[in-house]
Amino acid sequence: MTTRNDQIERYTGSQRAAHWVSAISFILLALSGLALFHPAMAWLANLLGGGQWNRILHPFIGVLWFLVFARFALPLMGSNVITGGDLKWLAQVRRVLAHDASGIPPVGRYNGGQKVLYWVLLLGMLVLLASGVVIWEPYFADRFPVDLRRIAVLAHAVTAWGLILSIIVHVTASVWTAGSLTAMVRGKVSRAWAKHHHPGWYREVG
Ligand code: HEM
Repeated sequence: MTTRNDQIERYTGSQRAAHWVSAISFILLALSGLALFHPAMAWLANLLGGGQWNRILHPFIGVLWFLVFARFALPLMGSNVITGGDLKWLAQVRRVLAHDASGIPPVGRYNGGQKVLYWVLLLGMLVLLASGVVIWEPYFADRFPVDLRRIAVLAHAVTAWGLILSIIVHVTASVWTAGSLTAMVRGKVSRAWAKHHHPGWYREVG
Protein backbone atom coordinates (compact mmCIF):
# COMPACT_ATOMS: atom_id res chain seq x y z
CA MET A 1 0.00 0.00 0.00
CA THR A 2 2.72 2.46 0.94
CA THR A 3 4.66 4.00 -1.94
CA ARG A 4 7.12 6.82 -1.24
CA ASN A 5 7.37 7.49 2.48
CA ASP A 6 5.06 10.49 2.51
CA GLN A 7 2.56 9.12 -0.04
CA ILE A 8 -0.17 6.47 0.21
CA GLU A 9 -1.86 4.75 -2.71
CA ARG A 10 -5.58 5.58 -2.95
CA TYR A 11 -6.49 4.46 -6.50
CA THR A 12 -4.87 1.99 -8.90
CA GLY A 13 -4.11 2.91 -12.52
CA SER A 14 -7.15 1.05 -13.86
CA GLN A 15 -9.43 2.73 -11.31
CA ARG A 16 -8.13 6.15 -12.40
CA ALA A 17 -8.52 5.29 -16.09
CA ALA A 18 -12.13 4.22 -15.47
CA HIS A 19 -12.82 7.39 -13.45
CA TRP A 20 -11.46 9.69 -16.17
CA VAL A 21 -13.18 7.89 -19.07
CA SER A 22 -16.39 8.09 -17.06
CA ALA A 23 -15.78 11.81 -16.31
CA ILE A 24 -15.13 12.68 -19.99
CA SER A 25 -18.08 10.63 -21.22
CA PHE A 26 -20.30 12.21 -18.55
CA ILE A 27 -19.36 15.72 -19.73
CA LEU A 28 -20.09 14.74 -23.36
CA LEU A 29 -23.41 13.25 -22.25
CA ALA A 30 -24.37 16.36 -20.30
CA LEU A 31 -23.58 18.70 -23.21
CA SER A 32 -25.21 16.52 -25.90
CA GLY A 33 -28.21 15.93 -23.59
CA LEU A 34 -28.65 19.67 -22.96
CA ALA A 35 -28.58 20.18 -26.75
CA LEU A 36 -31.53 17.79 -27.01
CA PHE A 37 -33.28 19.29 -23.97
CA HIS A 38 -33.98 22.85 -25.17
CA PRO A 39 -33.60 24.75 -28.46
CA ALA A 40 -31.67 27.48 -26.62
CA MET A 41 -28.89 24.93 -26.07
CA ALA A 42 -29.16 23.19 -29.46
CA TRP A 43 -25.90 24.83 -30.58
CA LEU A 44 -24.07 22.45 -28.21
CA ALA A 45 -24.86 19.68 -30.72
CA ASN A 46 -22.01 21.02 -32.88
CA LEU A 47 -19.60 19.42 -30.42
CA LEU A 48 -20.58 15.97 -31.73
CA GLY A 49 -20.90 16.97 -35.38
CA GLY A 50 -24.37 18.58 -35.55
CA GLY A 51 -27.96 17.67 -34.67
CA GLN A 52 -28.13 14.24 -36.36
CA TRP A 53 -24.84 12.96 -34.98
CA ASN A 54 -25.64 14.38 -31.57
CA ARG A 55 -28.92 12.46 -31.53
CA ILE A 56 -27.27 9.23 -32.73
CA LEU A 57 -24.18 9.32 -30.51
CA HIS A 58 -25.75 10.46 -27.21
CA PRO A 59 -27.24 7.04 -26.28
CA PHE A 60 -24.11 5.11 -27.30
CA ILE A 61 -21.95 7.38 -25.12
CA GLY A 62 -24.54 6.75 -22.41
CA VAL A 63 -23.93 2.99 -22.60
CA LEU A 64 -20.15 3.55 -22.53
CA TRP A 65 -20.58 5.75 -19.44
CA PHE A 66 -22.77 3.14 -17.76
CA LEU A 67 -20.24 0.34 -18.34
CA VAL A 68 -17.15 2.33 -17.33
CA PHE A 69 -18.77 4.00 -14.32
CA ALA A 70 -20.14 0.66 -13.12
CA ARG A 71 -16.62 -0.81 -13.47
CA PHE A 72 -15.24 2.01 -11.31
CA ALA A 73 -18.03 2.43 -8.76
CA LEU A 74 -19.33 -1.08 -8.00
CA PRO A 75 -16.09 -2.32 -6.37
CA LEU A 76 -16.22 0.78 -4.11
CA MET A 77 -19.66 -0.14 -2.75
CA GLY A 78 -18.29 -1.71 0.44
CA SER A 79 -16.43 1.51 1.30
CA ASN A 80 -19.60 3.58 0.82
CA VAL A 81 -21.95 1.84 3.26
CA ILE A 82 -23.50 4.62 5.37
CA THR A 83 -22.86 4.14 9.10
CA GLY A 84 -24.12 5.83 12.27
CA GLY A 85 -20.88 7.86 12.28
CA ASP A 86 -21.64 9.14 8.77
CA LEU A 87 -25.09 10.29 9.89
CA LYS A 88 -23.43 12.26 12.72
CA TRP A 89 -20.97 13.73 10.17
CA LEU A 90 -23.86 14.77 7.93
CA ALA A 91 -25.85 16.24 10.83
CA GLN A 92 -22.79 18.26 11.93
CA VAL A 93 -21.52 19.15 8.46
CA ARG A 94 -21.44 22.88 9.16
CA ARG A 95 -19.05 22.29 12.08
CA VAL A 96 -16.95 19.91 9.96
CA LEU A 97 -16.63 22.57 7.25
CA ALA A 98 -15.49 25.03 9.94
CA HIS A 99 -12.70 22.51 10.80
CA ASP A 100 -14.27 21.35 14.08
CA ALA A 101 -14.77 17.57 14.03
CA SER A 102 -14.88 17.10 17.82
CA GLY A 103 -17.39 14.44 18.92
CA ILE A 104 -17.70 13.02 15.39
CA PRO A 105 -16.32 9.47 14.86
CA PRO A 106 -13.15 9.38 12.69
CA VAL A 107 -13.93 9.42 8.96
CA GLY A 108 -12.99 6.21 7.10
CA ARG A 109 -12.12 5.88 3.40
CA TYR A 110 -15.00 8.24 2.48
CA ASN A 111 -16.94 10.84 4.48
CA GLY A 112 -20.74 11.00 4.80
CA GLY A 113 -21.08 13.55 1.99
CA GLN A 114 -19.04 11.45 -0.45
CA LYS A 115 -21.09 8.39 0.43
CA VAL A 116 -24.42 10.14 -0.15
CA LEU A 117 -23.13 11.39 -3.50
CA TYR A 118 -21.97 7.89 -4.38
CA TRP A 119 -25.48 6.45 -3.89
CA VAL A 120 -27.10 9.38 -5.74
CA LEU A 121 -24.77 8.74 -8.72
CA LEU A 122 -25.33 4.98 -8.67
CA LEU A 123 -29.12 5.27 -8.45
CA GLY A 124 -29.12 8.03 -11.07
CA MET A 125 -27.04 5.89 -13.39
CA LEU A 126 -29.62 3.07 -13.20
CA VAL A 127 -32.58 5.43 -13.80
CA LEU A 128 -30.79 7.06 -16.77
CA LEU A 129 -29.97 3.68 -18.31
CA ALA A 130 -33.46 2.23 -17.88
CA SER A 131 -35.30 5.36 -19.03
CA GLY A 132 -32.78 5.90 -21.86
CA VAL A 133 -33.44 2.44 -23.29
CA VAL A 134 -37.21 3.04 -23.20
CA ILE A 135 -36.86 6.24 -25.32
CA TRP A 136 -33.99 5.04 -27.59
CA GLU A 137 -35.10 5.37 -31.20
CA PRO A 138 -34.99 3.59 -33.58
CA TYR A 139 -33.91 0.48 -31.64
CA PHE A 140 -36.14 0.08 -28.60
CA ALA A 141 -38.67 2.90 -28.19
CA ASP A 142 -41.42 1.40 -30.37
CA ARG A 143 -41.49 -1.73 -28.16
CA PHE A 144 -42.83 0.30 -25.21
CA PRO A 145 -46.30 1.85 -24.67
CA VAL A 146 -46.44 5.58 -25.29
CA ASP A 147 -47.41 6.39 -21.67
CA LEU A 148 -44.33 4.60 -20.39
CA ARG A 149 -42.22 6.53 -22.90
CA ARG A 150 -43.66 9.82 -21.62
CA ILE A 151 -42.77 8.89 -18.02
CA ALA A 152 -39.30 7.79 -19.18
CA VAL A 153 -38.64 11.13 -20.93
CA LEU A 154 -39.54 12.97 -17.73
CA ALA A 155 -37.52 10.64 -15.48
CA HIS A 156 -34.54 10.91 -17.85
CA ALA A 157 -34.57 14.71 -17.87
CA VAL A 158 -35.12 15.14 -14.11
CA THR A 159 -32.43 12.57 -13.23
CA ALA A 160 -29.96 14.05 -15.72
CA TRP A 161 -30.39 17.52 -14.17
CA GLY A 162 -29.93 15.98 -10.69
CA LEU A 163 -26.71 14.25 -11.74
CA ILE A 164 -25.30 17.31 -13.51
CA LEU A 165 -25.82 19.34 -10.30
CA SER A 166 -24.36 16.50 -8.19
CA ILE A 167 -21.25 16.36 -10.38
CA ILE A 168 -20.81 20.13 -10.08
CA VAL A 169 -20.84 19.61 -6.27
CA HIS A 170 -18.42 16.64 -6.62
CA VAL A 171 -15.90 18.58 -8.74
CA THR A 172 -16.16 21.70 -6.54
CA ALA A 173 -15.58 19.62 -3.37
CA SER A 174 -12.62 17.78 -4.91
CA VAL A 175 -10.94 21.04 -5.98
CA TRP A 176 -11.82 22.81 -2.72
CA THR A 177 -10.36 19.99 -0.57
CA ALA A 178 -6.69 20.70 -1.19
CA GLY A 179 -4.68 17.57 -1.98
CA SER A 180 -7.65 15.48 -3.24
CA LEU A 181 -7.01 15.84 -6.97
CA THR A 182 -3.68 14.03 -6.71
CA ALA A 183 -5.71 10.93 -5.73
CA MET A 184 -7.31 10.90 -9.18
CA VAL A 185 -4.33 12.23 -11.14
CA ARG A 186 -1.45 10.21 -9.66
CA GLY A 187 -3.36 7.69 -7.54
CA LYS A 188 -1.61 8.83 -4.36
CA VAL A 189 -2.31 11.16 -1.46
CA SER A 190 -0.04 12.57 1.21
CA ARG A 191 -0.02 11.04 4.67
CA ALA A 192 -0.94 14.47 6.07
CA TRP A 193 -4.04 14.59 3.80
CA ALA A 194 -5.08 11.06 4.78
CA LYS A 195 -4.58 11.73 8.50
CA HIS A 196 -6.51 14.98 8.32
CA HIS A 197 -9.46 14.02 6.06
CA HIS A 198 -9.75 10.24 6.50
CA PRO A 199 -8.13 9.30 9.83
CA GLY A 200 -10.03 5.98 10.08
CA TRP A 201 -8.75 4.93 6.64
CA TYR A 202 -5.24 6.18 7.45
CA ARG A 203 -5.16 3.95 10.53
CA GLU A 204 -5.97 0.94 8.32
CA VAL A 205 -3.51 1.54 5.47
CA GLY A 206 -0.96 4.07 6.72
C1 HEM B 1 -13.67 16.55 -14.13
C2 HEM B 1 -14.48 15.95 -13.34
C3 HEM B 1 -14.12 15.21 -12.08
C4 HEM B 1 -13.15 15.45 -11.13
C5 HEM B 1 -12.16 16.60 -11.08
C6 HEM B 1 -13.26 14.41 -10.13
C7 HEM B 1 -12.45 14.26 -9.02
C8 HEM B 1 -12.46 13.21 -8.12
C9 HEM B 1 -11.55 13.02 -7.03
C10 HEM B 1 -10.40 13.95 -6.65
C11 HEM B 1 -11.89 11.88 -6.39
C12 HEM B 1 -11.18 11.24 -5.18
C13 HEM B 1 -11.89 11.58 -3.90
C14 HEM B 1 -11.35 10.75 -2.74
O1 HEM B 1 -10.77 9.68 -2.97
O2 HEM B 1 -11.54 11.16 -1.56
C15 HEM B 1 -13.04 11.33 -7.07
C16 HEM B 1 -13.70 10.18 -6.70
C17 HEM B 1 -14.88 9.75 -7.27
N1 HEM B 1 -15.48 10.27 -8.40
FE1 HEM B 1 -14.87 11.89 -9.46
N2 HEM B 1 -14.28 13.57 -10.47
C18 HEM B 1 -14.84 14.02 -11.66
C19 HEM B 1 -15.90 13.47 -12.35
C20 HEM B 1 -16.64 12.40 -11.90
C21 HEM B 1 -17.80 11.87 -12.58
C22 HEM B 1 -18.40 12.45 -13.88
C23 HEM B 1 -18.26 10.84 -11.83
C24 HEM B 1 -19.45 9.96 -12.05
C25 HEM B 1 -20.50 10.28 -12.73
C26 HEM B 1 -17.39 10.70 -10.68
C27 HEM B 1 -17.53 9.78 -9.67
C28 HEM B 1 -16.65 9.58 -8.63
C29 HEM B 1 -16.80 8.56 -7.60
C30 HEM B 1 -17.96 7.56 -7.46
C31 HEM B 1 -15.68 8.67 -6.76
C32 HEM B 1 -15.34 7.82 -5.53
C33 HEM B 1 -16.01 8.43 -4.32
C34 HEM B 1 -16.81 7.43 -3.54
O3 HEM B 1 -16.76 6.23 -3.86
O4 HEM B 1 -17.51 7.85 -2.58
N3 HEM B 1 -16.41 11.66 -10.76
N4 HEM B 1 -13.38 12.17 -8.14
